[in-house]
Amino acid sequence: MNDDDERLVSGQPQGDEESAVERSLRPNSLDQYIGQSALKDELKVYIQAAKQREEALDHVLLYGPPGLGKTTLAMIIASEMQVGLKTTSGPAIEKTGDLVALLNELQPGDVLFIDEIHRLPKIVEEMLYSAMEDFFVDIVVGQGPTAHPVHFPLPPFTLIGATTRAGLLSAPLRDRFGIVGHMAYYDVADLEQIVIRSAGILHSPIDEQGAHEIARRSRGTPRIANRLLKRIRDFAEVSTDHDGIDLSIVQKALTMLQVDDQGLDRTDIKLLKTMITYYDGGPVGLNTLAANIGEETETVAEMYEPFLLQRGFIKRTARGRMVTSQAYEHLGIPEPRND
Ligand SMILES: Nc1ncnc2c1ncn2[C@@H]1O[C@H](COP(=O)(O)OP(=O)(O)OP(=O)(O)O)[C@@H](O)[C@H]1O
Ligand SMILES: [Mg+2]
Repeated sequence: MNDDDERLVSGQPQGDEESAVERSLRPNSLDQYIGQSALKDELKVYIQAAKQREEALDHVLLYGPPGLGKTTLAMIIASEMQVGLKTTSGPAIEKTGDLVALLNELQPGDVLFIDEIHRLPKIVEEMLYSAMEDFFVDIVVGQGPTAHPVHFPLPPFTLIGATTRAGLLSAPLRDRFGIVGHMAYYDVADLEQIVIRSAGILHSPIDEQGAHEIARRSRGTPRIANRLLKRIRDFAEVSTDHDGIDLSIVQKALTMLQVDDQGLDRTDIKLLKTMITYYDGGPVGLNTLAANIGEETETVAEMYEPFLLQRGFIKRTARGRMVTSQAYEHLGIPEPRND
């Protein structure tokens, strides 16, 4: 298998996946946005209220694992507010000047979307405090003895920050967001709707059982559901005895793609088996574990661990991560008795 297959169930966007197809699958309005209903209902109220007052929407922080629809939601918020959207990311803003340039282009009410906001340089983050709170920045103009501070007013705007790691955000920054949206993993029913909607856009016939099975094995993540759907569509199209996507083609394809019955991929399995084989089931620290399976600590922390935790295959303890009885059972490995 090539490297691409290896990361089939990763929640991260892959290569040039932000392609026309990917864009066509992105919902464009809150009503098309499936799931996250509590957050959606809240946003509808805030958006309507802000529009009635003709004010900028309060700043919004969206956090949650990769691929759950943070970027999509940010785009939808701007479009529902009928305002302009500027998009950037934490690592792309290297200097305060970069931020000033971005802020300078905003029209009143516009949305500035900063992805991976936990990766903003400290000095840029500090400049954001006054920009967010009172809509101004203080900049220093000139150099040496002629240098002098300039008070630079900004139009009211909405900052939408997205992060996979809310824990890495400093308290002063976090506190400046009026609306904080936690993106939760999607349930199977929501993912099933997403799969059916995407299959429709891709003109790919699918039955309910097929959609249900893809949903069930997508790690609660729309990006993975769409990715599996695209792969399975290929299997269905080249298969001579299938008319569209049904349960049996989904099962056959996912077996070939090494996505197991619970949606675990080879890296998840490797991670669990490493914990069992080398660390007697734990506790083991995240860094050690990541090094052992040849992944970045960040990747394990953002992508693999949250899902395995949520599904109860591992648990967090003060001394590190431990596998659970459920993991032993899933892998068919007898659990050692510790008595
Ligand atoms: N609620 C939803 N309804 C339908 N499709 C969705 C929904 N949320 C996400 N998607 C689909 O999943 C894809 C990934 O979503 P998005 O890029 O917004 O995730 P993200 O949370 O920003 O990920 P990352 O953390 O990697 O930036 C989108 O292209 C979209 O097609
Ligand atoms: Mg994103």
